[in-house]
Amino acid sequence: GKYRVVSTKSMPGTRWINLLIQQDCRVEICTEKKTILSVEDIVALIGDKCDGVIGQLTEDWGEVLFSALSRAGGKAFSNMAVGYNNVDVNAANKYGVAVGNTPGVLTETTAELAASLSLAAARRIVEADEFMRAGLYDGWLPHLFVGNLLKGQTVGVIGAGRIGSAYARMMVEGFKMNLIYYDLYQATRLEKFVTAYGEFLKATGEKPVTWKRASTMDEVLQEADLISLHPILDKTTYHLVNKERLSKMKKEAILINCSRGPVIDEVALVEHLRQNPMFRVGLDVFEDEPYMKPGLAEMKNAIVVPHIASASKWTREGMATLAALNVLGKIKGYPVWSDPNRVEPFLNENAPPPA
Ligand code: GLV
Ligand code: GLV
Repeated sequence: GKYRVVSTKSMPGTRWINLLIQQDCRVEICTEKKTILSVEDIVALIGDKCDGVIGQLTEDWGEVLFSALSRAGGKAFSNMAVGYNNVDVNAANKYGVAVGNTPGVLTETTAELAASLSLAAARRIVEADEFMRAGLYDGWLPHLFVGNLLKGQTVGVIGAGRIGSAYARMMVEGFKMNLIYYDLYQATRLEKFVTAYGEFLKATGEKPVTWKRASTMDEVLQEADLISLHPILDKTTYHLVNKERLSKMKKEAILINCSRGPVIDEVALVEHLRQNPMFRVGLDVFEDEPYMKPGLAEMKNAIVVPHIASASKWTREGMATLAALNVLGKIKGYPVWSDPNRVEPFLNENAPPPA
């Protein structure tokens, strides 16, 4: 192949590799055994000639890597992720490297994990499983692992983009929850759904559910029984959920996070879980991945999984394919399939901070 494309990790499926090979690319997959590559590892991987890189959300794509890629003749980088808080898009622009991400293919898979964590937390499934395996079950009891009925309760969605909207739909349609949502920028997707769903319920004579777009985040925190976080991570959403905001939530609320760890102040969360045994949380992401803040692992009212929200076979193969197409497209002179600068200009310094 004429072009050298590097993938910092082995990725699921073969379609992404075949696409590149068929289009005159040599594909080099890093064989390093350690899970997280350092900037130095990646500089070495880029070497003297590299036309494009597919990288991962665990890598720090900033000044050093984009200058190295540019020196090696590289024009394209794709994150194999929809989130790209690990990518300094300004540095990429400075070195003439186009950046892509992989939205769309992970929307439903991620929303399904948020829904899974919601149900698991509401019905205390993990605690009950541990109890069973420990041999503690000695007969049915009226009080055993009593949890929450979601039907008729209110689900609060913070961040009504693709994933937040898909999650909201699942919880409203699937479990007949009332909905309150908050988004600083947009909510068209979700607004279209709730309007159409309202008409549907009316036509079928089913009991209506209520919904509203909140004008402040606090409204969601105060009213919702189940809250799921779906914002992007940037300066304006760092520690969006802090001690003060936790204290505004209902004592028995459930909080779900499948976005990015630093959206929650995890130390404050551990303290809140300690003080409020009926408050439950389902976390897919952590502030200092792969670590958890001290105490979190011991909390019975927390369910923790290792950043697997997009982990379905179909989605992961789709993400790899999109990442390959991003890089290939740029090498071949087409626009990047999904360029964050174009598709999601959310790094908007002029936007007001969340209320
Ligand atoms: C995963 O966290 C992603 O951003 O795709
Ligand atoms: C419980 O198993 C019931 O039958 O109510």
